[in-house]
Amino acid sequence: MKKVIISPSILNCDYFHLATEVEKIIASGATWMHFDVMDGHFVPNISIGNMFLEKIAPSINLVKDVHIMVCDPLKFVEKFAKAGADYLTFHLETYRDINKINKTIDLIHAHKMKAGLSIKPKTKVEKVFPFLEKLDLVLFMSVNPGQGGQSFIPEVLDKIATLKAEIKRRNLSTLISVDGGINDQTAPKCIASGADVLVVGSYLFQSEDFASEYKKLM
Ligand code: DX5
Ligand code: ZN
Repeated sequence: MKKVIISPSILNCDYFHLATEVEKIIASGATWMHFDVMDGHFVPNISIGNMFLEKIAPSINLVKDVHIMVCDPLKFVEKFAKAGADYLTFHLETYRDINKINKTIDLIHAHKMKAGLSIKPKTKVEKVFPFLEKLDLVLFMSVNPGQGGQSFIPEVLDKIATLKAEIKRRNLSTLISVDGGINDQTAPKCIASGADVLVVGSYLFQSEDFASEYKKLM
């Protein structure tokens, strides 16, 4: 049975002690780290950007799983490639024109990154089907994007199962990732529905013992 990948999100971490927070991620055995980029337009808040990633990426030997919640993501692909992103995941809802979605996926690949497509809780899972052959990852938002520490939206579980069936039917290796409100209760439900990656922020960074809580997610 393939082990689930945990991708700790630093959105709600203690930025004043960032190095210590990253050491907690490494000590827990995590191999991924999730960066939530917000532009204040696609989502109401502004968080971190490409320059932040560029400054810390060289010191971090983890898979840099970058989730850009930004308008017009095409404009940012090269910047995040230069900054050191390994996975670059953008939102389907940013473009009505499917050619632009395809163009963004192709540009991510042209910059030697893995391409992810994220959908909000209200977006139907079938909307990602036309792009599935090209996608390395699909990120399901299990909260409305824009901030950490929200409650898990259980309707995402059926979407995960539907996509898992489609990936199997097409014999693809696209990863399914889930982001928002993941904890020791919601993690097993996501895994049972077919999730391969779990993005976890508050549950880990606001816990007394990061490593022991991390183990409960597997
Ligand atoms: C929402 C963010 C959060 C963050 C993790 O836009 O994407 O989901 O990664 O949040 P929590 O604290 O719910 O794990
Ligand atoms: Zn995220």
